[in-house]
Amino acid sequence: MKTGRNRFGPRDSARGARGTSLAAPFACLAVLLAAPSLSAQSPPASTCVDCHLQTGVDRLAAPARDFARDVHHAKGFTCADCHGGDPHDATMGAMSRSKGFIGVPAHRDVPALCGRCHSNADFMRRYNPQLRIDQVAEYRTSVHGQRLFATNDQKVAVCSSCHTAHSILPPSDTQSTVYPLHVADTCARCHADARYMAEYGIPTNQYSQYKASIHWTTLSKVGDLSAPTCNSCHGNHGAVPPGVKSVANVCGQCHAMQADNFEHSPHAAAFLAIGLPGCPTCHQNHEIHAASDRMLGASAPAVCANCHSPSDRGGRAAATMRTLIDRLRASRERALAILQRAERSGMEVGQPLFDLKGATDDLVTARLDIHTFDAAKVRTPVEQGLAVSHQAYEQGVMAFRELRVRRNGLAVSLALVLLVILGLVLKIRQIERRPGGGPKWHSIGGQS
Ligand code: HEC
Ligand code: HEC
Ligand code: HEC
Ligand code: HEC
Ligand code: HEC
Ligand code: HEC
Ligand code: HEC
Ligand code: HEC
Ligand code: HEC
Repeated sequence: MKTGRNRFGPRDSARGARGTSLAAPFACLAVLLAAPSLSAQSPPASTCVDCHLQTGVDRLAAPARDFARDVHHAKGFTCADCHGGDPHDATMGAMSRSKGFIGVPAHRDVPALCGRCHSNADFMRRYNPQLRIDQVAEYRTSVHGQRLFATNDQKVAVCSSCHTAHSILPPSDTQSTVYPLHVADTCARCHADARYMAEYGIPTNQYSQYKASIHWTTLSKVGDLSAPTCNSCHGNHGAVPPGVKSVANVCGQCHAMQADNFEHSPHAAAFLAIGLPGCPTCHQNHEIHAASDRMLGASAPAVCANCHSPSDRGGRAAATMRTLIDRLRASRERALAILQRAERSGMEVGQPLFDLKGATDDLVTARLDIHTFDAAKVRTPVEQGLAVSHQAYEQGVMAFRELRVRRNGLAVSLALVLLVILGLVLKIRQIERRPGGGPKWHSIGGQS
């Protein structure tokens, strides 16, 4: 990071790496820079802020205004920590070149400016030992960094393009431009702007496609922050297209089982040979939708049909796997339906309903095993699941048989009761009709 621009820096290196001719002013600057003490990280007063707020020129006042909420302000840094100058001088002399003032850093110099602190392990450890210090190194490997340093491309992203220059916040802050829910918008400022990107000849639809994906839905609607946004797949700072070879690793950060199965499948080598990326060939890269059985099989709309005919080995495997999955699904649903009906009829089917969860797990395993593209591997969990659902179904059938027995029992006892009642009624009538039987009752009634 010892670039020409790197004339002032975090306190320690500021004292160390100084040119001798500049020693005097910089010794003074070093003292000034040391002013915000590490222990007392309260925001310091700065003449830069005071005067800039009063200029009435937005370009000059906005940075001073925004900086109030910047993480660097909160940690006790001043404008001078990035721009140099003297934050205690209330005159225009504060911005004297002799006090290390650099003016507005050129696009190309921004990474080194931020890197002066952020690439300095010793310095950063005193603030936050957990914070990574590889942002500049990573950035250099990105397409952004490569173009910046190779051709001085002014349009690629530098640190302040993604983080802003004066409202920098930790990624965990919901207001940050790099908070997971805001990253896509941050990248889209350039990548969804067709005019801005025209000279590069790459598509500008990543943003709109991503916004239509299950990943964005999961992130934004379900609120699951483990779902990916642009930097999850492209790296925070190493922004490069993952490349054919490593795409499966990128997806495999989160979909480890599918990636592992895929890597051991015949497709891993076959796709590499034709130059196709792993997962996106069947799932897309940005507009990834929920997967369904329709993707599997030997005829359209199954993805397999894009490359296999129904009669080749791949096509036959596809058809077999689809049949297996369909059978397990149907058998599980049949069992579930009968058990739910039994439950509604008041039968105790808690246990078989619980057992049926085993078949649901087998279905999940079978769908995972699709990524081996080996029908025999899919068959194992399917057969297990079929056995479980069959048994659960049988228990549903038995529940209904029991219900029938109970109902029949009830009907017989009901019929018996009715018979008895009928018998009694007939008996009473018989007694009533007997001569002398009735008047007796009347005479009793008359007496009282
Ligand atoms: C007395 C008022 C005053 C003080 C104090 C002051 N500035 Fe400025 N600053 C200005 C004005 C006015 C301009 C515009 C000058 C110009 O355009 O030539 C300016 C311009 C700038 C610019 C833009 C330069 C450019 O080339 O466009 C930066 C960056 C800057 N100031 C940073 C600082 C920093 C850092 C400090 C404190 C160390 C500071 N200023 C202190 C008034 C002030
Ligand atoms: C963390 C480093 C950092 C700090 C701290 C910082 N700046 Fe800046 N400033 C930059 C960078 C980088 C730029 C270049 C513009 C860009 O990349 O967006 C810049 C640009 C500017 C500009 C030019 C804006 C324009 O639109 O031309 C002014 C004025 C300025 N800063 C003033 C200030 C003042 C005043 C403070 C203190 C309140 C301050 N800066 C604190 C990094 C910083
Ligand atoms: C003078 C040293 C210094 C400079 C220059 C500097 N930073 Fe920082 N930065 C820090 C320190 C110290 C922290 C606080 C780390 C902490 O406590 O978490 C920090 C925090 C951050 C954070 C929040 C990190 C987190 O997760 O908490 C970001 C993002 C950041 N800086 C980006 C930048 C960018 C972008 C630039 C250049 C425009 C820059 N910094 C320039 C010292 C500096
Ligand atoms: C293309 C956009 C982009 C550029 C360019 C960029 N960053 Fe970041 N940066 C991010 C994103 C996104 C995150 C959030 C990572 C996360 O969610 O953990 C981040 C996180 C950070 C953090 C927090 C700690 C970490 O590493 O996760 C620091 C510090 C930081 N960046 C500094 C820098 C510096 C210094 C540069 C310039 C060399 C830079 N960034 C360039 C997008 C960018
Ligand atoms: C300031 C504008 C800007 C921002 C913001 C920006 N980029 Fe870029 N990005 C570019 C430019 C310009 C290129 C160069 C295009 C090229 O060389 O094909 C590029 C290149 C890329 C590439 C390489 C494309 C290729 O195939 O060559 C990727 C990947 C990329 N950016 C991802 C991101 C991500 C992810 C973010 C947000 C975290 C982001 N960019 C933010 C301007 C930007
Ligand atoms: C789920 C992972 C994932 C997410 C999320 C993602 N990308 Fe990509 N991106 C990829 C893959 C995979 C490729 C293609 C790489 C290849 O085929 O070599 C790619 C390619 C690109 C390219 C190069 C395009 C080209 O045709 O050269 C750019 C630019 C890009 N993505 C930007 C973005 C932006 C901006 C976002 C957020 C809006 C984003 N990506 C979100 C995985 C992702
Ligand atoms: C040759 C085509 C193909 C490739 C390559 C492929 N998949 Fe799939 N994937 C499918 C099919 C077909 C399904 C749907 C299975 C179903 O629902 O019956 C699927 C389903 C999925 C599912 C949802 C089902 C589940 O298991 O939860 C995920 C997640 C998934 N794939 C991720 C990946 C990842 C990650 C990669 C790369 C390592 C990948 N896929 C590579 C064809 C493919
Ligand atoms: C940062 C983690 C992460 C990365 C990286 C990631 N995904 Fe996802 N993916 C998720 C989450 C979370 C979901 C939604 C919940 C679920 O279904 O697991 C999801 C859902 C999916 C689904 C739908 C699954 C279903 O149940 O129907 C597919 C297909 C998928 N991802 C494929 C991919 C591919 C292909 C890549 C690489 C280009 C990728 N994912 C990269 C986390 C990730
Ligand atoms: C992008 C094209 C492509 C897609 C899509 C694709 N395959 Fe393949 N598949 C290949 C290639 C290429 C091979 C290796 C050459 C060969 O054996 O045909 C292969 C091989 C296979 C094999 C091994 C055949 C053998 O000879 O042992 C099976 C099984 C297979 N695929 C199943 C599937 C299934 C199931 C799907 C859908 C989920 C699918 N494939 C989707 C291109 C594809």
